[in-house]
Amino acid sequence: MTLVSYDPAARLWLLSTAGSSCAIRLDEDDVLRQVHWGRPLTLEQALAAAAGPVAAPGSSFDGITGEEYPAEGGARFGLPSLQLRHADGSRGVHWRYLGHGIETGVAEAAGEEGFRPCELTIRFRDRHYPLELDLHYRLRPNSEVLERRAVLRHTESESEPWGEPVRLLRMDAACWTLPRLPDYGLSHATGGWSSESQLRRTALPVAETVLTSRRGITSHQANPWLMIDDGSATEDSGEVWSTALAWSGSWRITVQRTPDGVVSCTGGSGHEGLVVRLLPGDSWETPVYAGQYTADGFGGASRAWHRHIADHVLPRADELRPVLYNSWEATGFRVTEQNQMQLASKAAELGVELFVLDDGWFGARRDDSAGLGDWTPSAEGFPDGLGPLAAEVRRLGMRFGLWVEPEMVNPDSDLYREHPDWVLRMPHREQSALRNQLVLDLARPEVAGWAHARLDALVSEYAIDYLKWDMNRPFTDAGRPGHPDPDRLWFDHVHAVHALMARLRADHPGLRIEACAGGGGRVDLGVLAHTDAAWTSDNTDALDRIGIQHGYSQLYPARTMSAWVTDSPNPLTGRSLPLAFRFHIAMAGALGIGGDLRGWTDVELRQAADLVARYKRIRPVVQQGAQYRHRNAVQHVMGEESVVIAWQLPVPHGVPIPPLRLAALDPAARYRDQETGRLHEGALLLTRGLDARLDLGLDSDFSSTVVHLRREGD
Ligand code: DGJ
Repeated sequence: MTLVSYDPAARLWLLSTAGSSCAIRLDEDDVLRQVHWGRPLTLEQALAAAAGPVAAPGSSFDGITGEEYPAEGGARFGLPSLQLRHADGSRGVHWRYLGHGIETGVAEAAGEEGFRPCELTIRFRDRHYPLELDLHYRLRPNSEVLERRAVLRHTESESEPWGEPVRLLRMDAACWTLPRLPDYGLSHATGGWSSESQLRRTALPVAETVLTSRRGITSHQANPWLMIDDGSATEDSGEVWSTALAWSGSWRITVQRTPDGVVSCTGGSGHEGLVVRLLPGDSWETPVYAGQYTADGFGGASRAWHRHIADHVLPRADELRPVLYNSWEATGFRVTEQNQMQLASKAAELGVELFVLDDGWFGARRDDSAGLGDWTPSAEGFPDGLGPLAAEVRRLGMRFGLWVEPEMVNPDSDLYREHPDWVLRMPHREQSALRNQLVLDLARPEVAGWAHARLDALVSEYAIDYLKWDMNRPFTDAGRPGHPDPDRLWFDHVHAVHALMARLRADHPGLRIEACAGGGGRVDLGVLAHTDAAWTSDNTDALDRIGIQHGYSQLYPARTMSAWVTDSPNPLTGRSLPLAFRFHIAMAGALGIGGDLRGWTDVELRQAADLVARYKRIRPVVQQGAQYRHRNAVQHVMGEESVVIAWQLPVPHGVPIPPLRLAALDPAARYRDQETGRLHEGALLLTRGLDARLDLGLDSDFSSTVVHLRREGD
């Protein structure tokens, strides 16, 4: 199948997935414009679209719009994707088209004969200055996602006339232009610490709407994805244009809706105001800003992203995520060999497969004020090192995981006393020690080298299976005294983190990593390329989790969504909830347990063991199936099986509770409930649905259930 076609006469490219097309063309002045982004078109249809009326400005006051990669310069008044200043004070670019290349890779998996990853590169050179730009478009087999990125090169050598740095004021990865619709709705996620991933659906204003993080991490406050529809899409129906940025640091996506009705999103790494120097011979590469068009509602858009992330982003999507235990909520910083062994023994009895020792195990760490950076086991808590605990965890049949925060240091630590200059700081400015810690300048080779050596030694010495990689404070006062190009640190830090993760994984093929930044502060397509799961939120209250997980699932798949069952009342919210409800909500992701098991009654421990066993039976479908979101339920479907997790929230007496109509089943088939043996008609599950009380047994607030259906043989 041809994923990219080119018509030389019209200078038009057509990029196609199974369910969408994107057509772009060069106009007479070598301006690259979008012709179409939406339902699939043939090349003939795309050519007809390009020959038809273009979204021309009404008057000279409107300027050029609808460009694939708008750069500052000429009659352009929207937000540019590329802004720069040349050494002589001139700004912007004026491109001349250089040519293009289409590269077809090898099929990535068996059975994908004919579907090959495909990359289109379109090249430009400035008409006067020594600058070249490559725009990359990558399509992958069985994915609706188009991955776009850009590379800028300063092509002169120092000895030549323009051998001066170019100041890069902004370089986005891509700009996506939408078709003209009668109206526009915007969906995105906002939040804060302990309230990440709150889904927002609003009308898109005629304005520039900025989604951003200026924190050096992806952030709890906004996540770098968005979905746009015509305002009428639902969970199950309607066209949705969505985009997501693969970047784990500061970022910015600006959605522009102009008064004359053109909507575009330009996005990339870095927040506004950062300036980097591009020296002769240097190049600057953006991360990927991916986009997709889907026609089956927000649910369809999410499933297409989940599939893409599983097939093309995650390193080990094929593996079932283990049921883990994490010590944080049980023992906080006060971890000792003895209390961890007690927890490990209880966890093993429940069927836990991976035991993760959280913060507090190293140096002088007894609270958040000291020890960070000193990655050797605390003599007080672990007099014989971590060896005895690791051995005990393994004897109990579990894998061993460890919490680390390699990008950080407490001023009260041996590391800081030895290397006070290793932290991000600005001359003549005070450092804000958020959570009593400072950020290490990981982009410095000696700092990255130290971090790698420490982590590598730990992983090797204790044969660590899993690192929970935390990052607990945003960047502030971020500088590099004496460095000629200090703002680069915002970009280099992220590359250094990704590189460190990649190197550890390459050297320790069994190592798995969980992304964490004070909860869900660093979840994005960039970090997921190097990790296996993400800690979704420090809020483990199952009721709050429903909303957090709903927002998380808009882009990210269940297998990456780390979800723990903790104590009741919940330590953060004080809310008491039934054990089954807490479990069922967490079972919609990668199940973990984080409560203080030493305080659970025998009855609770037995119930928990049953629920863990239940989870293991449904886990392949939950973690690897397609997800359908319903009101007060999530359904996963894989092959012949479907798993439904349903719950009841408080409603006033007398308010009817609608039945749960399932999705994606065969109406001609019958499905057997694997627990009760009851047989259901597929057609009725899809139409009449399951009654909350009679079929699902949801008879009180916070009652919940899991239904595991398997299609009966013909
Ligand atoms: C923030 C994380 O989200 C928590 O789970 C825990 O690991 C703490 N940091 C430890 O400091």
